[in-house]
Amino acid sequence: MSDRVLVFDTTLRDGEQSPGVRLSLADKLEIGQQLVSLGVDIIEAGFPISSPGDFESVNQLAKQLKGVTICGLTRARQKDIEVAAEALAPAERRRIHTGLGVSENHLQHKLRMTREEALATGVQAVKWARQFTDDVEYFMEDSGRADLSYVYKVVEEVIKAGATTINVPDTTGFTYPNEYYHLIKGIIENVPNSDKAVFSCHCHNDLGMATANTLAGVMAGARQVEVTVNGIGERAGNTSLEEVVMALYIRNDKFGASTGIDTTQLLPTSRMVSRLSGMVVQRNKAIVGANAYAHSSGIHQDGVLKERSTYEIIDPKLVGAEKSEIILTSKSGRHGLKHRLAELGYSFSDERFEEIYANFIKVADSKSEVNEDDLRVLVA
Ligand code: KIV
Ligand code: ZN
Repeated sequence: MSDRVLVFDTTLRDGEQSPGVRLSLADKLEIGQQLVSLGVDIIEAGFPISSPGDFESVNQLAKQLKGVTICGLTRARQKDIEVAAEALAPAERRRIHTGLGVSENHLQHKLRMTREEALATGVQAVKWARQFTDDVEYFMEDSGRADLSYVYKVVEEVIKAGATTINVPDTTGFTYPNEYYHLIKGIIENVPNSDKAVFSCHCHNDLGMATANTLAGVMAGARQVEVTVNGIGERAGNTSLEEVVMALYIRNDKFGASTGIDTTQLLPTSRMVSRLSGMVVQRNKAIVGANAYAHSSGIHQDGVLKERSTYEIIDPKLVGAEKSEIILTSKSGRHGLKHRLAELGYSFSDERFEEIYANFIKVADSKSEVNEDDLRVLVA
């Protein structure tokens, strides 16, 4: 099995489905260019039949972005597929992403179809899509809650019909890592023609397990991950691109798999998406949060100042951050204070430093952070 994991970015499709987010065409082009610099393999640019605006943005991204596959989402309907094919026509490389639900819940309540009807509809959709491109991805919506024997049957039939990537979405964020691992492993081991397709993890974060589930899927043999920048998306969001990429990088010893991502572009990409989408990144967000490389307690500051790896498993430069930060609070110690004063160009005798330290602790007790201006006042 190849150790290369394809990164399928759906920030512009599933990410844009975040309540309250609306990206203009110019925003999408800016993010799209940045995703190319980041090194993603596939950009899901939108759902072309959903609105004229979505059609236009998929079409423009298909025209303007080079060196990446542009993908359009469709339902398993002929008209959707024809419209997607038209929007994607100018792309250097194009993919149609079609499919429908596989869980009893979706079959009964949403699709109102029998298993047989849904399977036939899906197979037909793949055949229509293959008329326009050799690169067809099939999604089995709500796989996480579906009956495995039916999932295996669908996978086998849609691969026979020409699907080259099989997306196994945990649409409702219901599964836990061990379960998602066995879902992917079970498909690969039980479907006779599974060697003819790439399996893709598409996880939602309703129980906070999207990243863990996606990584479990990679462990089980999936070789594509569907992610969004900062994990934006419907409800609690999608799997976060930066978390999966850095987990694969830092724990390569366990995963033995890597992506084509330029990790130094992770932070600039995160900031751009946050700015354009209006979705604020929480301070303690893994990899790209403002606190991800910041140390505030005296014990940690002492360790990090002696040797960064005592409390940091990621060199901040790897993700495009300038450096680790020593944040001065009431929990900070002498080492941290001395370090920050030295950064401002100050050095003092031991006696004078003790005086400053005593005053620093008083100020720190009254504020959440002692900043540069406070330090200058303390010294003065
Ligand atoms: O979550 C999901 O099932 C999806 C599909 C449309 C791929 O986003
Ligand atoms: Zn989704």
